[in-house]
Amino acid sequence: MNESTKNSSNDTDFSDEETVSEESEVIESVVSDNESTENSSDETENSNSELVGKFDLKAGTVVLNNGITMPILGIGMYTLSQEEAENSVYWALRDGYRLIDTARIYGNEEGVGRGIKRAIDEGFVTREEIFVTTKMWTSDYNDGDDAIDASLKRLGLDYIDLTILHHSQPRNDVEAYQAMEKAVEDGKLRSIGLSNYYTPEDFDRLISETTILPVLLQNETHLYYQSTEMKEHLKQYGTVLESWYPLGGRGHTQELFNNETVVQIAEAHKKASVQVILRWHLQAGNIAIPGSSNEDHIKEDFEIWDFELSDEEMQQLNALDRKERFSDY
Ligand SMILES: NC(=O)c1ccc[n+]([C@@H]2O[C@H](COP(=O)([O-])OP(=O)(O)OC[C@H]3O[C@@H](n4cnc5c(N)ncnc54)[C@H](OP(=O)(O)O)[C@@H]3O)[C@@H](O)[C@H]2O)c1
Repeated sequence: MNESTKNSSNDTDFSDEETVSEESEVIESVVSDNESTENSSDETENSNSELVGKFDLKAGTVVLNNGITMPILGIGMYTLSQEEAENSVYWALRDGYRLIDTARIYGNEEGVGRGIKRAIDEGFVTREEIFVTTKMWTSDYNDGDDAIDASLKRLGLDYIDLTILHHSQPRNDVEAYQAMEKAVEDGKLRSIGLSNYYTPEDFDRLISETTILPVLLQNETHLYYQSTEMKEHLKQYGTVLESWYPLGGRGHTQELFNNETVVQIAEAHKKASVQVILRWHLQAGNIAIPGSSNEDHIKEDFEIWDFELSDEEMQQLNALDRKERFSDY
């Protein structure tokens, strides 16, 4: 692995106003060009800090704060059985997805690995084009080295693109994060990140005691809980936000799909509500990882590159924020 993948400085500041204002321009300029997307993780690491955190909606990617390029739309594996995970990953990779999100605690890393292997064996994708994310569960925080090796083994991979600490746990998450930092040096992990840190203070606590900046923070984020303050806080670190429950999560999707504003905008674009919601995430600067075990849904969720929400529509959707979480952790 190239040395430039490492971000060893906590004082790199990506938040200057020029960069922030350029960000929206990049989003605007790329979405106005409705060419088909080539959504792939890019092995070429980009050391240009001006690009960090900017969503390229034409390529379907973002440059992370370690210079690595990551897809901005992927598939989530929560609640899927091993067999469902294998099939969902296989269908998703066939349909153009390049980002997969699983976790040790989901119990389907082997299935994910099998789906990836099938897709590679059939020749429509290479390992290098895929961006695989898994997460370390809290009970493994005292034994991070072993947890990383065990995930590698279950996935059947020799490196993982991104490993995330699943939850904030003030007493021993620092130790777990340091194990991930070591694994980056050893070439086992390419990027590391965090999940379920809901206050700037908690996020800053962790990074003040560690060296490599998290490339992303994966938190519950959807139309009714838009994570605006956290996202603003993350900008100074070049850390991007990734939405879990992007559709509201099982049990809540219909609330979002049937929201009057969403339905009206969907009708105007001749798109499904789910596609408007996913498009909103991407234009708002949130990586989205909708979960599905349904072949048709997986296809539908990736057909969001051929239309663009106007500024007015984005404002209408932004106004739906209620700061209401559906989960309690
Ligand atoms: N870090 C964390 O703590 C955390 C927590 C939760 C989730 N996550 C991650 O985030 C991912 C997304 O969250 P999630 O899967 O829980 O919730 P979600 O993506 O908000 O919603 C999933 C639900 O949406 C349905 N769905 C997907 N596409 C659809 C479509 N086109 N039409 C109709 N229904 C559709 C799925 O049903 P079908 O299967 O029938 O399509 C499923 O019931 C997870 O899979 C996981 O990878 C992380």
